[in-house]
Amino acid sequence: MKAIIYRAFGEADVLEWVDDWPEPEPGEGEVKIRVLAGALNPKDILLRKGKFRPLLNRERLPRVSGQDVAGEVVSVGSGVSDFSEGDAVFGMTNRFHGGAHAQFAILRDDEIAHCPKELDWSQAAAIPLAAQTALQALRDCAHLKDGHRVLINGASGGVGHFAVQIARILGAEVTAVCGESNLHFVSELGADHVIDYHQTPAPAITGPFDCVFDVFGQYRARDFRDSLKPDGVYVNTIPNRKTVLAEGLARLHLQQSSRLVLVHSNRRDLEILAGWVADGNLHPHLDKVYPFYHVEDAHRHIETRHTRGKVVLEASC
Ligand SMILES: NC(=O)c1ccc[n+]([C@@H]2O[C@H](COP(=O)([O-])OP(=O)(O)OC[C@H]3O[C@@H](n4cnc5c(N)ncnc54)[C@H](OP(=O)(O)O)[C@@H]3O)[C@@H](O)[C@H]2O)c1
Repeated sequence: MKAIIYRAFGEADVLEWVDDWPEPEPGEGEVKIRVLAGALNPKDILLRKGKFRPLLNRERLPRVSGQDVAGEVVSVGSGVSDFSEGDAVFGMTNRFHGGAHAQFAILRDDEIAHCPKELDWSQAAAIPLAAQTALQALRDCAHLKDGHRVLINGASGGVGHFAVQIARILGAEVTAVCGESNLHFVSELGADHVIDYHQTPAPAITGPFDCVFDVFGQYRARDFRDSLKPDGVYVNTIPNRKTVLAEGLARLHLQQSSRLVLVHSNRRDLEILAGWVADGNLHPHLDKVYPFYHVEDAHRHIETRHTRGKVVLEASC
């Protein structure tokens, strides 16, 4: 089958669109999907560059890239009863190295859900990793509620543009931080206040906030000690020694003020997101759609760190 692979870690030119990769078959609890679109995420770039420690990045090379997909079910393994041939599905693999950007992908049945009918394939593929990250950060890490005030730093990118919309759905007042060229875009997403980080860096914005969601991840909890409420929560997205330690302490109930979101794909959250799409409250924004065979350009686009919404690969374009 066709697949996006890399045989060595490196820059985007290590990516190859090959047509002789072995076609996988679903095992117990798994679903085989004809991939019609696949979204890119910064993690795809980090994996391709070999940035993760060998313990996490242990799948051998060559390997297939990609985590997010939307497409049609081709066949199901034993024990799968909620999906059948021809169903339109979207989801994200929880396999650390990805392996989903190919003509066919195997995902577990609890990592996917039925596609929202309102969306095309590329829009559906844009949702799983980024929107589940935003949902899990705001709902599970920060316990964001109606009437809370949240500061979102990095509000115009893949995760951030979903975070603004989800915070509004949860009833929060949103102060969003982005670059000057995205002020109007983020305001249209529903943010109550939008601030250019060149004018006022996030830690200098006056609170008090119940949550700071540092999507771009360049700060630390203590940078917001003047603007977070005493019981407020700072959520980061970047795993490093300090954020992993803080998250470990939070999971042991030793502190709750500094969290690291670690996205995990699950059907319940995908269905919540699909419901919000159906209600007209959640809209994926696509910065650009590339054909699968232009994956190098798509990876370079993400690497600019200035995407507006999502970058997606599509099989038919
Ligand atoms: N831990 C997890 O489970 C998890 C899950 C998903 C993502 N992540 C991480 O979360 C981060 C964000 O992911 P993403 O998909 O949203 O990335 P992305 O789409 O590549 O983010 C691009 C956005 O970053 C903004 N940005 C660039 N420089 C900035 C600055 N100095 N201050 C504030 N914002 C700035 C840009 O805004 P402007 O163009 O407006 O400047 C752009 O909209 C990545 O590092 C990713 O690896 C972690």
